[in-house]
Amino acid sequence: MRSWKAFALAFVATATMMPLTIAQDGKAIKKAMKEAMKGGLCKTVASGGGTAEDKKKLYELFADMCKEMPPKGDKASWDEKAGALASAAKAVVDGKEGATAQLKKAANCKSCHEAHKGE
Ligand code: HEC
Repeated sequence: MRSWKAFALAFVATATMMPLTIAQDGKAIKKAMKEAMKGGLCKTVASGGGTAEDKKKLYELFADMCKEMPPKGDKASWDEKAGALASAAKAVVDGKEGATAQLKKAANCKSCHEAHKGE
């Protein structure tokens, strides 16, 4: 009986902790900001530059960022803004027409920071 209880407890603990570590460690957004935004990867790709690797990396950074919650703002708005970045980056990877323009538009630092960046 004892080990059953321990097992059940451990199970509940992992089950409740997992979404927390995914949603709240805050690393994916910061990483994307540092490498894609501040680091200039997004700008390079949005101006039509970058290798296939760069484009894929950019898409991955943005896709990871979408899985996290920002420090501020509601989820619907975040899904829309972060999702726009990820889908624009995906369109660039796929070589879609107008994708770089879409990426430029989605990479609106100010509008997203006002809505979602904490102090
Ligand atoms: C889709 C929304 C979004 C867009 C677009 C965006 N950012 Fe951010 N940015 C955020 C959020 C959210 C944070 C706060 C992250 C945190 O504190 O966890 C942030 C934080 C930052 C930080 C601080 C990172 C740190 O380590 O604390 C920098 C630098 C930054 N952004 C640069 C930029 C630049 C430059 C652009 C435009 C080229 C840009 N961002 C566009 C959402 C966005």
